[in-house]
Amino acid sequence: MLPQDAEADTAVIGVLEDEPVHHDVDGVLNALVESGEAKARHRHLAVTHAGAKRWILVGLGKRSQLDGERVREAAATALGRALELGARRLCWEVPHKVGDEVAAAIVEGTLLTAYRFERYKGKQTEEDEEDSERKDIDALVVSAHADMGSVAAEAQIVAGAVNAARDLQNAPPNEMAPRHLADAARALGELDGVSVEVEGRDGLRRLGMGAFGAVAQGSDEEPALITLRYEGPSQAGPVLGLVGKAVTFDSGGISIKPASKMAEMKYDMSGGAAVLGAVEAIARLRLPVALVAVVGAVENMPSGHAMRPADIVRASNGTTIEIINTDAEGRLVLADCLSHAVRQGAERLVDLATLTGAIITALGNVHAGLIGDDDEWVAQISAAGTATGELTWRMPLHRDYAKQVRSEVADLRNADESRKAGSITAAQFLERFSGDVPWAHLDIAGMAWGTGKPYAKKGGTGFGVRLLVELARSLAR
Ligand code: BES
Ligand code: MN
Ligand code: ZN
Repeated sequence: MLPQDAEADTAVIGVLEDEPVHHDVDGVLNALVESGEAKARHRHLAVTHAGAKRWILVGLGKRSQLDGERVREAAATALGRALELGARRLCWEVPHKVGDEVAAAIVEGTLLTAYRFERYKGKQTEEDEEDSERKDIDALVVSAHADMGSVAAEAQIVAGAVNAARDLQNAPPNEMAPRHLADAARALGELDGVSVEVEGRDGLRRLGMGAFGAVAQGSDEEPALITLRYEGPSQAGPVLGLVGKAVTFDSGGISIKPASKMAEMKYDMSGGAAVLGAVEAIARLRLPVALVAVVGAVENMPSGHAMRPADIVRASNGTTIEIINTDAEGRLVLADCLSHAVRQGAERLVDLATLTGAIITALGNVHAGLIGDDDEWVAQISAAGTATGELTWRMPLHRDYAKQVRSEVADLRNADESRKAGSITAAQFLERFSGDVPWAHLDIAGMAWGTGKPYAKKGGTGFGVRLLVELARSLAR
């Protein structure tokens, strides 16, 4: 279907360098390109009217450089203008002769940009409503030569799951305590092939999870060890184990954080949110994989019953840990969750965690840190990141870093004072809990919120959902 025939008030056309608009309307669109008012420069915008429609021409750059990320960014730009102009039904024309990933990126870019978190905002007056621009469109139509129906439908599922993860992230920590996250996980049990189990404080004690339990003991909120399983139709590959850090608020505990930016630590559950989002998408897509997902949900608080620096605790695999800094709590939670995932039958492991400030110093808001003990598995995760625009960068796990987690009095210590290679130190710690299973760790502290991406300008980004879905797809292939 051509854009001019689509049931839409606004059509979006991507302009590629040195290429005309293929389906013009009375010569109007190409005239705009020829006059230079519409340009191929990435995210450049031009607007006109023709054939009873509004046309937005958005620059996509050079065809040779076209990839999903550039398309998601252009879709964000186009949607922004469309909303300003009051568009209700949008039709996006997929450029000629591009891969499925471009059509998927149009859908993702649009739906991720349309996301809002306004649950706690008061009702606007009617006047306000009229003044303010529209916040969402009613429909997105994808126009293409080939049938892109199933590609678009799958991209819609993925974008919906990313936005669901963002809802979990953005919720305030008083309303996203561990038990609320457990409720969100239980809701996924409604999906075909998904089962969910939740253990609280008693369960942690019964399972010998003294590391996770040490973090939980400072808070009055009940922790939640959440285990989800998904069995897809005719799964063939290895059982994929996903592990997420979900510290619903990280005050630092007795090693308390400074007040400035402490509020951002409501996002310290972003690894868990990404895992829940990925399970949702994988199950809705009915991917032919077997999955075990473990989310460690807990609050890290100072109190009269909180763990102390110098405490020694015992993790469920028997490893004893000297607590040096109660703010290095994520690795304590993940230690028991990783061992748990192995015991639950995971044959490949990837954990996601907002684990260290050091990863932000190293990689900023562009790449997640990727560290693992199996080159092939690390490469597969890195490839999934590249394919989805959720970029990762590998860091070394050389044995010479191991001394940073060595303790005089226990098997391990949870931090060292050197402030050197903080992200690798954390990974050295985690590796001791991954058994014999190929394992990789994604430190998403720089990517989970506030990255300023055009399609996720504010709040949580849902980083990791798209990567994990692609990883599951690659295991199924
Ligand atoms: N959740 C934080 C890491 C973090 C900090 C993420 C800032 C995003 C922004 C984590 O629990 C933490 O506090 N890590 C410490 C470890 C240190 C005590 C060894 C850190 O990075 O300072
Ligand atoms: Mn911390
Ligand atoms: Zn933390």
